[in-house]
Formats: sequence, structure tokens, C-alpha cells
Amino acid sequence: MVLTPLEHELDSSGPLDGSVIEVRGLTKRFGDEVLAVDRLDFTVARGSVCGLLGPNGAGKTTALRMLVGLVRPSSGEARVFGTRVTPSNPVLQRVGAMIEAAAFYPYLSGTSNLRLYWEAGGGRWPPPNLDDALAIAGLGNAVERRVKTYSHGMKQRLGIARVLLGEPEILMLDEPTNGLDPQEIREVRRLMQRLADTGTTILLSSHLLGEIEQVCSHVVVMDRGHLVSAGTVAELVAGTRWVYFEVDDTTRAAEVLGRHPGVLGVTPEPPGLTVELDGIPRSAAVEALVAGGVAVETVTARNRLEDAFLGLLRESAGA
Ligand SMILES: Nc1ncnc2c1ncn2[C@@H]1O[C@H](COP(=O)(O)OP(=O)(O)OP(=O)(O)O)[C@@H](O)[C@H]1O
Ligand SMILES: [Mg+2]
Repeated sequence: MVLTPLEHELDSSGPLDGSVIEVRGLTKRFGDEVLAVDRLDFTVARGSVCGLLGPNGAGKTTALRMLVGLVRPSSGEARVFGTRVTPSNPVLQRVGAMIEAAAFYPYLSGTSNLRLYWEAGGGRWPPPNLDDALAIAGLGNAVERRVKTYSHGMKQRLGIARVLLGEPEILMLDEPTNGLDPQEIREVRRLMQRLADTGTTILLSSHLLGEIEQVCSHVVVMDRGHLVSAGTVAELVAGTRWVYFEVDDTTRAAEVLGRHPGVLGVTPEPPGLTVELDGIPRSAAVEALVAGGVAVETVTARNRLEDAFLGLLRESAGA
């Protein structure tokens, strides 16, 4: 194909609709038995934070690996900035990815580890955006400590800082909060929000709907290799019946919601409660709580019920 200058421009900077990631019919087979990713289609708009949600074995990691040229698709294609991804394609310099857990030299400080990595890649220390990357990672003075003293979450954030040194326009993270404790999860979540505020496009995988809900604007749901649904998180969450409310007074909240006609069931789970809604919007439940004198801290889709939720999606997709 011969490209005119304008088309060439578009080819390198992304298509007109603003999608910077495009996945079309993407398929990966391992041998004859395993169909890890099955004709997957989705797009991610520039500047959005998109979750790739699916249970274990859904094909999330394999899809991300194909998006960064680590695994060759069996058929279909993945494009970033309009360019088809192939191993070592220069367009991948605009993409940062953390797909495996980040490995560091334990006896060196966080900064020394970053420096070694940067210089090994041929860069001159310090990279221009070192301070920004460190600020986003939020490690503070701990970057001068040996990595051996870091928590799992701190290593994860240092790993993200390392990816950020290359000033990626797209960041792909595979289950960035897996194995972290709740405090660490909050730190990583804040980090992703700071990144999103800088305009970076983020694609992150997770098997927790509640997590996707707190970080992402958009979501692609996968199950057994194929696409279940894609859209905004608001649309997806509007379809879930189980909601977790963190409140200041669970007893009072259970009383208030227990007599609300739009509520089918209430299960206290301090510091909050899980509520099954009968088609009413969550905002109606929040209003009822507030009117009943209950302060609501957070409202999220209930993680625990994810499998049931995916089961419902499976049925509706006729899969
Ligand atoms: N290199 C490989 N060889 C053979 N099968 C593989 C390989 N990599 C992945 N698979 C299989 O492909 C399917 C999808 O795996 P994948 O790791 O992409 O899923 P996932 O959604 O990331 O799961 P998890 O939540 O457990 O990380 C699984 O059945 C897995 O066993
Ligand atoms: Mg995985």
C-alpha cells in the first residue's frame, strides 16, 4: 500500500476517531488445545483509562502481551497509534508496559536501580522526567533506600516509575494491584489517577470489578478468550445489582435500607454493607442513607459477586 503524506501522518499518530489502541479479530492459540484469545475486538480512546476485566484464564495477559509485541497473534491484529504491532516495532517506544512483576537489585536503592536500568538502555542519567516519574510513583525519600526494604506495593510503584522514565504515551499494566494489601492498593490507585491526570492513556487488567470502577473510565470485559462487553464503566456498573456502601454507621444504614422499597437485601460487612438493589439507581440508595442521617464514604460494585456477575453476562451473550 502506498500512503499519501496525510495518510502517513495519520498512520503514525493514530486514526481520526482518537483511538490509540485498536484490537481487531485478535486471536491467540497455544497448540491445538488452548484458544487463549478468541477474535477480540476493542478500541481505547486517547487519554482514557480502560480496564481489561475478566476472571482467571480469560486471556487478559495474553492480549496485553500481543499488544506490546511479546507474543505474535495467531490471527487478527493489534494496533497502537494506528501502527500494527510487531516485535521491536519503533512505535512501541511510545508504549510503556509492566506485564510481569518488576525485578530489581535488592541491595541497591530505588534510584540506583532506576539509573542502572536507564543507562543500560543507552540513556544519559538523569532522564528529563525523573522528578515527574518519582512524584507520580509517590515513593518520597524511600527511593534512596535499598529495594530490599520495600513492600510489595512499593516495588510495584518503583516498577511503574521505571516504565515512566521513557515518557510513554500509553501505559499497559497487568494486574497492577495483584497481591497488594488494601493500603498499597490505594497508593497504586492514586498513582494511576495522577497518571491519568497527565493525559497518559492507560490500559490495565484486573479481575476485580470494584477496582476497575475506581480507576477506569472505560472497561472491556473478557471471558474465556472472547469479548463479553465493552463500554463505559458507568454503563456496566448501572447493570449490577449488588453494591457495597462504606458508611459511618452500619446498623443505622441497614435499618434505613432495610425498609426501602427498592432494596431486596442488606448484608452488613463492617465498615460497610452489601446491598442488593431492585433496579433502582445507586444514587437513590445514597439519598435514602443521607436522608436517614448516615454518612456514605464509598460506593462500589461488589467484588465478591463478580463471578455471578460474569455468569449473568455469559448468559446474556449466549456464550
Ligand atoms: N504460553 C502459553 N502456553 C500455553 N497456554 C497458555 C500460555 N499462556 C497462556 N496460556 C493459556 O491461555 C489462557 C489465557 O491465559 P492468560 O494468562 O492470558 O489469562 P489471564 O486472563 O491473564 O488469567 P489470570 O487472571 O490468571 O492472569 C489460559 O488458559 C492459559 O492457561
Ligand atoms: Mg494474567
